[in-house]
Amino acid sequence: MTADTRPYVEPGQPEPAVPLLGGDLTEGLVRVGDTVRRPASVSSRRVRRLLDFLQSAGFQGAPRFLGIDESGRDTLGFVPGDTAGRPWPRWVADESSAISVARLVRSYDDAVQPLGVPSWARAGDDDDPQGCPSSIAGQATFLAHMDITPENVVFQGGTAVALIDFDLVRPATRAEEVANLLLWWGAWMPATDRDPVIREVDAASRAAVLMDAYGLGPVDRAKVVDVALNAAERSWHLMRRRALTQGGGWKRMWDEGVGDKILRRQAWLAENAAVLHAAIT
Ligand SMILES: Nc1ncnc2c1ncn2[C@@H]1O[C@H](COP(=O)(O)OP(=O)(O)O)[C@@H](O)[C@H]1O
Ligand SMILES: [Mg+2]
Repeated sequence: MTADTRPYVEPGQPEPAVPLLGGDLTEGLVRVGDTVRRPASVSSRRVRRLLDFLQSAGFQGAPRFLGIDESGRDTLGFVPGDTAGRPWPRWVADESSAISVARLVRSYDDAVQPLGVPSWARAGDDDDPQGCPSSIAGQATFLAHMDITPENVVFQGGTAVALIDFDLVRPATRAEEVANLLLWWGAWMPATDRDPVIREVDAASRAAVLMDAYGLGPVDRAKVVDVALNAAERSWHLMRRRALTQGGGWKRMWDEGVGDKILRRQAWLAENAAVLHAAIT
């Protein structure tokens, strides 16, 4: 049986559905007992297979895919712990939180690396939109998470224990994954666009700490700033396309000005490139 036809069999009396409101995007996300129900998305096929692979590899830092429930929703294991809601709690700014996220991401990347880039990993939206600068990241080597926001990491006792929300998983390089980590946990954006709790984070020194915690090699370190800038340039086009084609939360974010935020991030990265590069190489 493939992951797409595996039914989720309810273990007993139906339990009440409790809305999960932490994310920006997925409408209708609920917790039922120790499971999470996620309406199927364009990424469901690849996420189901990926989560199955992680389980077979013995990786503990991601929810299990349990099957598809009677309403057609993806059923995942609920990971107990804390995730950041908006506004972010203070601990999101702690260096120790960021270090533990970098270590968790490294362990995910290493666990998923043997899968490489399987043919099912393309979701049909992988061609660049018109006008989008091409990627400078080079050949993708594995299925990177690529959305390591504080809302998408579960903590237990101050330590990051699981990545959730694999909707943006895609073939990428280590440098691209780390650039995404730096965006959220290294405050790689202008202070005015930061959540208040991370406004004072020093982006250069935090970046150096995150690089060491992840253990990124020297060749990739030398690329990260350029890759982050290229990713920001590409992200404006990719987000706009998602807003147009997928609507929902993507359209809402676009209407709320995320496109302009991305343009400000590009300018900030370009302005600070030399300082950031020096800090991490
Ligand atoms: N498997 C899970 N275990 C624990 N909490 C979860 C799980 N899935 C989702 N959540 C909670 O629901 C919130 C939103 O889920 P997420 O999958 O990130 O949706 P969105 O696509 O809207 O970002 C998360 O921030 C987290 O608090
Ligand atoms: Mg999320």
